Amino acid sequence: MIEFYPQIRWVHILAVTLSGSLFALRGLGVLVGARWPQAPLVRYLSYSIDTVLLTAALMLVTILPAALFANHWLTVKLGLLVVYVVLGVLALRRGRSPALRAGCYGAALLVFLMIVGIARMHHPLGWLWPWFA
Ligand code: HEM
Repeated sequence: MIEFYPQIRWVHILAVTLSGSLFALRGLGVLVGARWPQAPLVRYLSYSIDTVLLTAALMLVTILPAALFANHWLTVKLGLLVVYVVLGVLALRRGRSPALRAGCYGAALLVFLMIVGIARMHHPLGWLWPWFA
């Protein structure tokens, strides 16, 4: 399956971009009190994009050699993914006050950028890695 690595990586990155953009837009919608971010069509679109993202991610993990993950960047990435999901749920639905939802929205976007940095650098320190290297 290694011959499909570039295409699968491309699908993963495309899904990451769509997923992050949709979350950013939905979060903004929630902040201004709009109802469309919870509309069934928008939610199903989000579930579909995230399913593609995760499927491509799992395929990449299977294809790539285990040595690539030796410094545990993927473990840290998955830990931050859980944090991102919890913050995202609080930002879009569960946050009790507008202030809490806004705080969780900002924090979720920050964690998303940290995940991208870890993926790009192949290092748990992510974007900070060049300063410590
Ligand atoms: C919000 C969630 C995620 C984001 C923002 C994200 C982001 C990215 C990005 C930007 C890349 C490209 C890195 C590069 O340029 O080489 C990438 C690659 C990758 N991601 Fe993700 N990802 C996410 C979720 C996941 C999950 C859940 C897994 C594993 C189950 C995963 C596994 C991988 C793997 C194995 C690569 C390939 C690295 C390589 O080609 O060397 N990602 N990810």
